[in-house]
Amino acid sequence: MKLFVYHTPEATPTDRLPDCAVVIDVLRATTTIATALFAGAEAVQAFSDLDDLFAVSESWPAEKRLRAGERGGEKVDGCDLGNSPLNCLPQVVTGKRLFLTTTNGTRALKRVEASPTVITAAQINRRSVVEYLQGAQPETVWFVGSGWQGDYSLEDTVCAGAIAAELWGNDVANVGNDEVLGAIALYQQWQSDLVGLLKLASHGQRLLRLEKEKDIVYCAQSDTIDVLPMQQSPGILVNHLKTTS
Ligand code: MLT
Repeated sequence: MKLFVYHTPEATPTDRLPDCAVVIDVLRATTTIATALFAGAEAVQAFSDLDDLFAVSESWPAEKRLRAGERGGEKVDGCDLGNSPLNCLPQVVTGKRLFLTTTNGTRALKRVEASPTVITAAQINRRSVVEYLQGAQPETVWFVGSGWQGDYSLEDTVCAGAIAAELWGNDVANVGNDEVLGAIALYQQWQSDLVGLLKLASHGQRLLRLEKEKDIVYCAQSDTIDVLPMQQSPGILVNHLKTTS
C-alpha cells in the first residue's frame, strides 16, 4: 500500500486516480458525515452545487430527507440544517437521507468520486479508517484534504498524518510523496493538543468568530465513533460497517 497526501482538491493529479481515495474535511464536512451515519442516517448525498441539491432532494419524500447547506461556515437559507455535526442527533437524522453541500468538503468528494473506492475520514472516526485500510490493503491511497477555497488547511493534513502515522508505523504502508512525511510530522507535533491546533487553524479562527467553539472541540476528538462512510454510487455515502455487518 502506497500513501499519498494532497493538501487540497486542486493539488490532486488530474491524469490518474487512486485505488482508494480518503477525503478529509475535519472542520467540518467529514466530521458531520461520520456523525450523521453513526447516528442512523440512511445515507449522505453530497453536492458541490446548491441548486443541484435542491433539485435532486425535491424528488425525495419530505419526511425522509434533510437538507444541510453551508457556505462560509454559516447555514444556507432554506436548508433544514447547516454543517454542524452537533445537530446530527439520532432523533434528527435516523432513517433520513442527508442532502449535504459545503464550501469545500463536498467539492473534494466530487474531485475523486470516480475512484474505485472513496471513503471519508475525520479525526473522530480515524480508527475505523485505519482498520479498513489495513484490512483492504488498496495499492494506492490518496488522502485528499478539502482545504479552504484552494488553500491548505492544517486540520485536514493533521488527520491524514494521524492515519498515515499508524499505517507507516505498523509497516503496512510505504510513503508515496513528501507530503505524507510532512503530515506525520505535523501530527506528531500536535497529537496531544489537537483542539489547540484546530483553534489556530484559519478555518478554526473563522468558526470561533462565528461562535462555534463547541464544534471545534467535538471535531478535534480522536477515535470516538466506529463508522466508515463509503461511497456507494457517485456522491452517495453509506456506513460500510453497517452494510457488511
Ligand atoms: C467546508 O466544506 O468548507 C466546511 O465543512 C466548512 C464548515 O462548515 O465548517
